[in-house]
Amino acid sequence: MLAIEADALRRTYTSRTGWFRPHRTETEAVRGVTFEVAPGELFGLLGPNGAGKTTTIKMLNTLLLPTSGTARVFGHDVARDPVAVRRRIGYVFGGDRGLYDRLSALDNLRYFAELYGVEARGQKRRIAELLDLVGLTGRERERVEGYSRGMRQRLHIARGLLHHPDVLFLDEPSIGVDPVAARDLRRTVADLTAARTTVLLTTHYMAEADELCDRVAVIAGGRIRALGTPDSLKARVGDRDVLDIEVYGAGEDALERIRRIPGVRGVSVAERGTAQTLTVQTDRGTEPLAPVLAALDGVRIGRVAAREPSLEDAYIAIVEDAALPQRVEVTE
Ligand SMILES: Nc1ncnc2c1ncn2[C@@H]1O[C@H](COP(=O)(O)OP(=O)(O)OP(=O)(O)O)[C@@H](O)[C@H]1O
Ligand SMILES: [Mg+2]
Repeated sequence: MLAIEADALRRTYTSRTGWFRPHRTETEAVRGVTFEVAPGELFGLLGPNGAGKTTTIKMLNTLLLPTSGTARVFGHDVARDPVAVRRRIGYVFGGDRGLYDRLSALDNLRYFAELYGVEARGQKRRIAELLDLVGLTGRERERVEGYSRGMRQRLHIARGLLHHPDVLFLDEPSIGVDPVAARDLRRTVADLTAARTTVLLTTHYMAEADELCDRVAVIAGGRIRALGTPDSLKARVGDRDVLDIEVYGAGEDALERIRRIPGVRGVSVAERGTAQTLTVQTDRGTEPLAPVLAALDGVRIGRVAAREPSLEDAYIAIVEDAALPQRVEVTE
């Protein structure tokens, strides 16, 4: 049996705006999302802000009713049988809410174990097991207010696992976590699937998705734009070369000049403190370096490196494609 089945899921939010002349606005957050996750799989949902990832998760974990479409968790329909679904799932949303700062980690877990109806007999052992899993053994008697972000996130995961869920939803677990703590967190997540827990994860860190996920779906504008293993997604841009160029203050006009160079397929910019990293995707075999540097005339340039396409490059290509006006195929 499949762990998760989402079939043509849609969700529209209706909100009232305006005070003087109130009117309703509708947001189509999720517009027909279909995918399946196998038991024990680590599945990633990737996509830009507002793509519909959290909304999709909230329909799967019964916090929101789908506007249309269906979803099942281990065969239980999320709309018709939410209680059965809730018994089989746990969820963790990124950010800091949901723990009691003035209590120790141990007391937090005891409290939530009561709340989730974890049977009293097994509680002590379960809590010790989870503290061990998330690497907080020895720190469990400290108040959570003194915990770092990474420790809190790991405690959240322990909380989400108290009642032995078969499926764990992790919505941006590594947000705001430093690189070393994020690595520990990834190890924790990888350990979960080793223990046969199915995990549905959202993240904005492509390297994290590449390392952890068996398969990923890229979602943009409420629709799935690509679905497959990280390698199969990378293969989509396998015919490209990538240049990373460190620049200091390249303006939009310089980017536009680069976009117009023959063979250039995409340009993106990431801020890195005072510098920016310009990533230029080109058709394989073109020699883009000289014209790109010429286009950056007058801009201070740091390190330049050519490399193989990464999941992030594939992701950017997929999301940029999704943003283009949709081609309409006409067959006669
Ligand atoms: N409660 C709400 N009421 C109205 N609109 C909402 C509500 N929640 C989300 N939306 C809208 O639905 C769309 C999808 O939002 P959602 O939170 O699912 O995106 P996301 O992919 O999780 O984004 P992010 O990466 O920023 O977390 C957005 O346009 C958002 O503004
Ligand atoms: Mg979200």
